[in-house]
Amino acid sequence: MITEKKSTISYRKWDRGADREFSEEVTVLRMDNGLITYACGITQEGYLLHCYYGESIGDDDISYLMRLAEHPFTPNGNNRDRLVFMDARYFEFPCHGTGDYREPCLMVLDEDGMSTCDLRFRSYRTMKGKPALRQKGVSCIPATYAAGDEAETLIVTLEDTHCDITVELTYTMFADLPAVTRSARVINRGRNDIRIQRLLSGCVDWDRSNFDMITLNGNWARERAVERCRLHHGKQSVESTRGISSHQHNPFAALVSHDASEEVGEAYGFNLVYSGNFLALTEVAAGGNARFVMGINPYDFSWLLRPEEDLTAPELVMVYSNRGIGAMSRAFHDLYRKHLIRGQWKDKMRPVLINNWEATYFNFNEEKIYQIAETASKLGIEMLVLDDGWFGKRNYDDCSLGDWVVNEEKLRGGLKPLVDRINALGMKFGLWFEPEMVSPDSDLYRAHPDWAIQIIGRDMTQAREQYVLDYSNEEVRDFVYGEIRAILDSANVEYIKWDMNRALTEVGSTSLPRKRQRELWHRYVLGVYDLMNRLTTDYPYLLLENCSSGGARFDPGILYFSPQIWTSDDTDAIERLAIQSGTSICYPASTMGAHVSDCPNHAIGRTTPFATRGDVALMGTFGYELDVTRIPEADREAIPGQVAKFKKFNSIIRNGDMYRLANIFEDNSYDAWMFVTKDRKEAFFTFVQVLNHPSYPARRILLRGLDADRFYRNEDTGEVRLGSTWMQGGVIVGAFGDFVSKSMHFTATN
Ligand code: DGJ
Repeated sequence: MITEKKSTISYRKWDRGADREFSEEVTVLRMDNGLITYACGITQEGYLLHCYYGESIGDDDISYLMRLAEHPFTPNGNNRDRLVFMDARYFEFPCHGTGDYREPCLMVLDEDGMSTCDLRFRSYRTMKGKPALRQKGVSCIPATYAAGDEAETLIVTLEDTHCDITVELTYTMFADLPAVTRSARVINRGRNDIRIQRLLSGCVDWDRSNFDMITLNGNWARERAVERCRLHHGKQSVESTRGISSHQHNPFAALVSHDASEEVGEAYGFNLVYSGNFLALTEVAAGGNARFVMGINPYDFSWLLRPEEDLTAPELVMVYSNRGIGAMSRAFHDLYRKHLIRGQWKDKMRPVLINNWEATYFNFNEEKIYQIAETASKLGIEMLVLDDGWFGKRNYDDCSLGDWVVNEEKLRGGLKPLVDRINALGMKFGLWFEPEMVSPDSDLYRAHPDWAIQIIGRDMTQAREQYVLDYSNEEVRDFVYGEIRAILDSANVEYIKWDMNRALTEVGSTSLPRKRQRELWHRYVLGVYDLMNRLTTDYPYLLLENCSSGGARFDPGILYFSPQIWTSDDTDAIERLAIQSGTSICYPASTMGAHVSDCPNHAIGRTTPFATRGDVALMGTFGYELDVTRIPEADREAIPGQVAKFKKFNSIIRNGDMYRLANIFEDNSYDAWMFVTKDRKEAFFTFVQVLNHPSYPARRILLRGLDADRFYRNEDTGEVRLGSTWMQGGVIVGAFGDFVSKSMHFTATN
């Protein structure tokens, strides 16, 4: 429910030699769904201040939380103390130049080269549901969605009359989730060009800073490791300047109370629906106030806004929990499963796939692929995915990107006969593309060298011997899409793996005018979204899996187009414990590409039991990435059982509530997690022993999420105990040796 409440704030202040009484009219705009309240307030002078964000509070006058009365602010007829006001108040959308020296959300350069901006309230409106984010000339901005009865939206319009801009701040609160989304749109209402130097998506100010900041950091094959640091004075941030959301830092951050654990404490989670350069920054200012801002990274960003043009910031998703970090994660999972992921595969069990990458790399022909498919089909595997190397003359990673034409030396007869044969086995067929790239050694590059991102006259940096195509250029996108369409229309391709294997360098475009060159970072991302939108609209049956050298683009922007993302190139079951646990901080298991691969593991050389590899991959979309014709017979024989296990439990994993029962980042000797159905009638538990320890002949793991008063049977041991017993007493899990796993199924008996 969105309400407006006017009230008067009165205070006494020593002014011009006398103790005088002042009063000010304020209006509080408040959003509440019974779980959380988010409120902002408009002062008499038109400043939009932050008022409250947290657990739901009753319908009361909360204007005092803006804390105007305690500080010298006399807007009427006394401007002497405005600077104190600006630098200490809690702003909804802080600007630069009028005395708030903390991190701003907006910086505008006007035609005179001035950068000061002073936004004041103009109007607001509310609506049921959630409008799509829009910007003139942009086909698609990914964002969460909601029907009329699922959310309410508040749009507050601010203006700066000096440089003639309006800023629309959009807030949506979801009916049954502790989640608010925010975005901002700047419109040039004047007659002159202006430049947006920075447009962040949102800000939250607190009158305290007793938080820890959690971020997800890593590298190739080591994505999204959880790191937790105490806030300190000054700024702490994570960001990407690579053009993709990156392996190094995920566009996620949470501020949690010092006591927060999985089960207790406060957690404010933030995740940006964006796949390019981002900034997530917390600043602790004088007086101990904390400010959090997030959005497109202002680093090397500048956007020319001509009269009547607009610029929209990506959506910032904010989740609040007062029941620990686990509840925050579950709210993100529910939000993304219900209100972000789209398409026919959104709620469906995904086909069990086998991918040939780690099986063959570039060394295959149609017969080899068919043999893998034939053997796999007999074991219950449902889809063959042909990875890199099927096109151009690509026998290594040094050529042919951009030439999306079947290599008939490898696939004799072309794609269709192979796909038809695989379909005849009862299997689906999927194909790998890297649509954003071009190899210097390619027909495409020879014909259109200007289509690569570059600065004319400078050396172009290669990575994996490839360049990035200029997706800000519609002609480039049209060409690549035409090539992809030709392949999709030539054979029954039902899945695409969309890969992206390098960061951007020498960021310049041969098609953008000089004044718009710094827009390329963002225009590139919008171009990628445009093509993904066209692909998923024209081929609605396609299952799209994104990938970026593993998980370098695992973000909500991508999830809007593809319901699953390849989590990491590291398929080692033990490394995956940390990678998948970190990823689950804000992304649901249904989105995590996870495969059983061969040993010794190709990324780290470790050998783990086949059963453990299966149990760990069950936490994601599940599939295989090995030469099934050559693995040990015992492993091959285990596959039908693993597939059956996936079929039996995937609905609990895909749709249920996830509980992390151990913290692999604090104690890397074991991990455990469980999923519970929404009706709490069933649960699926997994334990993995990393290092056996003589002190732990068996471990006792406390279960979570069950009904305390219900009895549950452990289907693996036959034990029946109260939910409260399983949760307070726990389950005893024998430790069998290093890298051994154990899963258990619990069903309610009453
Ligand atoms: C990187 C991906 O992460 C891998 O899974 C594989 O598809 C290769 N690219 C292919 O070049």
